[in-house]
Amino acid sequence: MPREHYYVGLDVGSAKVKVVVGKFDPNTDQLSIVGTGEAPSAGLRRGVIVDLEEAVSSISQALDHAERMTGLSLNHAVVSVNGPHINTINSHGVIAVSRADGEITEHDLLRVIDASQAMQLPLNKEILHVIPKHFAVDGQGGIKDPVGMSGIRLEVESTIIEVSTPYLRNLQKCLKQVGLEVDELVLSSLASANSCLTKRHKEIGSVLIDLGAGTTGVVVYEEGQLLLASVVPIGQAHVTNDIAIGLRTTVDTAEEIKLKYGHTDPESLRKDSEIKLSEFDANEDEMVSRRHVVEIMEARIEEILSSVNKELKKINRDGQLPGGVVLVGGGANLPGIVDYAREKLRLPVVVGNPSSTLSSVIDRISDPMYGTGVGLVQWVAEEDLRHGSSGLGLSLGKKIADNPGVSKLKSWFKSFLP
Ligand SMILES: Nc1ncnc2c1ncn2[C@@H]1O[C@H](COP(=O)(O)OP(=O)(O)OP(=O)(O)O)[C@@H](O)[C@H]1O
Ligand SMILES: [Mg+2]
Repeated sequence: MPREHYYVGLDVGSAKVKVVVGKFDPNTDQLSIVGTGEAPSAGLRRGVIVDLEEAVSSISQALDHAERMTGLSLNHAVVSVNGPHINTINSHGVIAVSRADGEITEHDLLRVIDASQAMQLPLNKEILHVIPKHFAVDGQGGIKDPVGMSGIRLEVESTIIEVSTPYLRNLQKCLKQVGLEVDELVLSSLASANSCLTKRHKEIGSVLIDLGAGTTGVVVYEEGQLLLASVVPIGQAHVTNDIAIGLRTTVDTAEEIKLKYGHTDPESLRKDSEIKLSEFDANEDEMVSRRHVVEIMEARIEEILSSVNKELKKINRDGQLPGGVVLVGGGANLPGIVDYAREKLRLPVVVGNPSSTLSSVIDRISDPMYGTGVGLVQWVAEEDLRHGSSGLGLSLGKKIADNPGVSKLKSWFKSFLP
């Protein structure tokens, strides 16, 4: 009888490290989430590790937490990659079909995708994902899956996601120190899109906005294809910092004020509504206007959303995506954000629910903050389903990343196989 598989997603966020443990039952073909763990992040800025020791300690704490909850020993994980160093490039590959009778095989598919990533990258950059968009056979384009078709010349248009090499090395060093083997590295907002965008969203044209602490991820899909993946280097921690500066409080107090009294619309609040700072810090005795706090917040959130809109403008999709906006990340919990984003982006807006397609008794994962963690687990589980599992049974995750080529190859298939 086939045995269960466990998958671990590790989301190394700027504010919080989040761990999600998924169990796949091959008898029912069901993936369920069986545990989570989290710890405040230290040593990270805008998604990038700036202090190795502190980051190691945060990741270890989050893993311990998940191990206690599940009773499992977690030694493999699929890990998120994030930061302003991420870049999307379009590329083109072309090959001659290898079989004499002209039938296109999976091998040709791999060769042409491989050809599309043969490009000159700057020394400090490397490829994280190569995602084929569509193929052309003998000049006839728009083909999703050419395997089995006949032709002489096979071409592909791919989206390449490149990342900074020093960033990756630091992340890998950190994970090694934690004692964790990496199954795969996945761009965090792509993982979030995996858990929070439906097939229909991706088909009709939608944008996922990941309102993280140090970054805001923007991912656009249309006709089932990835159009854009970019990272705006401003996030919800900047909102907190602005409050701390505006009220002259500590960052911790500002964060608590934001979580308790935060909103996006100052006009919706009573003019005389006040916040007692002593509620958060015994050393403070001032009263501050809640409207003033919300005005500070609104200014920064407006900046974030106009940066997102600029990204949409670059691909001519501002106000132009019928599937609308799906908000994820901790910032999606901010009261008023749905209406505010609808007004600023001129699109329908909903908050993503990472648990919507999964069975789980763990309520925590319905928080949009868990979009990336849940998406990472789904990412590897879906790949296993497509390519046959490694047969490691109860041992956690699977060991595929010894050969980075293998892991990339799996990503290539990610977005286009039905
Ligand atoms: N109810 C809320 N209102 C406003 N902001 C919130 C709320 N809940 C969480 N946040 C903010 O969400 C952020 C954390 O979200 P998340 O865990 O998605 O970020 P992260 O993944 O750690 O960061 P990044 O993706 O940028 O590396 C924090 O800045 C926190 O202040
Ligand atoms: Mg995040």
